[in-house]
Amino acid sequence: MNTLIVGVGALGGLVAARLRERRRAVPLSAGRGGGAPRGGRLSVTGVGGPARVDAPAVAALEAYAAGDAFELIVLATKARDALEVGPRLPRLLAPGGALLPIQNGGVSQLLADRLGEVVLGGLSNLGATLLAPGEVEQRNAGHLVVGELTGGVSPRAERVGAWLGRAVEVRVTPNLAGAVWSKLLLNCSVTTLGAVAGRTMREYLAAPGGRALFDRAYDEALAVALASGARPERMLVEPVPPAPGPAREAWLDQVLAAYGDLKPSMLQDLERGRATEVDVVNGHVVDVGRRLGAPTPVNAAIVEAVRALERGDLAPGPALLPRVLARAGACDARESSTF
Ligand SMILES: NC(=O)c1ccc[n+]([C@@H]2O[C@H](COP(=O)([O-])OP(=O)(O)OC[C@H]3O[C@@H](n4cnc5c(N)ncnc54)[C@H](OP(=O)(O)O)[C@@H]3O)[C@@H](O)[C@H]2O)c1
Repeated sequence: MNTLIVGVGALGGLVAARLRERRRAVPLSAGRGGGAPRGGRLSVTGVGGPARVDAPAVAALEAYAAGDAFELIVLATKARDALEVGPRLPRLLAPGGALLPIQNGGVSQLLADRLGEVVLGGLSNLGATLLAPGEVEQRNAGHLVVGELTGGVSPRAERVGAWLGRAVEVRVTPNLAGAVWSKLLLNCSVTTLGAVAGRTMREYLAAPGGRALFDRAYDEALAVALASGARPERMLVEPVPPAPGPAREAWLDQVLAAYGDLKPSMLQDLERGRATEVDVVNGHVVDVGRRLGAPTPVNAAIVEAVRALERGDLAPGPALLPRVLARAGACDARESSTF
């Protein structure tokens, strides 16, 4: 399958190197130069064993033309870049080709709203870290999820799944929207709140306001997902938690066992001074909630806090958790307090 990978960071580099390991070379398009290999070498270590590509074919997007007629473009940049560069990609596809975004949150849907059927939905449960330009560490034995945003399984989703499945584990789902929401629910609460608190989930739950904020952010996002008609599907844990009580505590223990001790990726973005993906995570919940008339004061307050962290007006810390809760209360009451 004639494939272009746009974004040669942690995930794009991992997929490219693992495809090459199976003797499938793919051209790559890199960004502004922070992480991509430049004429050197692309290597993967960690879970799944080592893989290496010498002198991978890397070029700026402008170097590719309509005549290249790719059957698949894997869009593996961060969310903001994906939304910017995505509309420039369909012209590089062969008729019937697919654009596969693999970002968190609402990116696949936002691009599909703009570009139509050419977008095949995707998300990643693979964990990868860019150690240095062209050096990727695979952190888990996760998988990519691929499917039609409108639901059901299509021949093209099966084809793309089988092709990328030569490189990494891929699951083709008839319920991609449900899978996206399941991941989003955890990103909204585990990842974003961890970034706000500057702590792992296990640590921030023990801080004042931590548990209340987790419950409210999760339940609010779940209410929006259900209002949208999505059926969140199981992803390590059941997406719909039991009512408060012993069963809910047991559910929380499962979430903690899976995610409780990981350093939140959004915290790493803040520490590196990079923009976060909060707009397509908690911000997506707020946007969809607004369209559906579902209130999202807690996620809105979390977005505000992360924007203040990005600007450097605040520093991550557990002391922010009660402030976010208070701000969410202020939003409920339509008051105008800020951080
Ligand atoms: N890594 C993970 O474990 C993981 C897991 C689940 C989901 N995700 C999601 O997957 C997405 C990618 O994550 P990542 O960790 O792989 O990010 P990353 O390491 O930052 O890689 C993104 C790459 O995209 C490149 N890029 C930016 N603009 C570009 C453009 N216009 N054309 C071509 N390349 C461009 C960047 O290059 P420059 O730096 O040179 O600009 C960078 O190398 C994110 O949405 C993330 O949330 C990642």
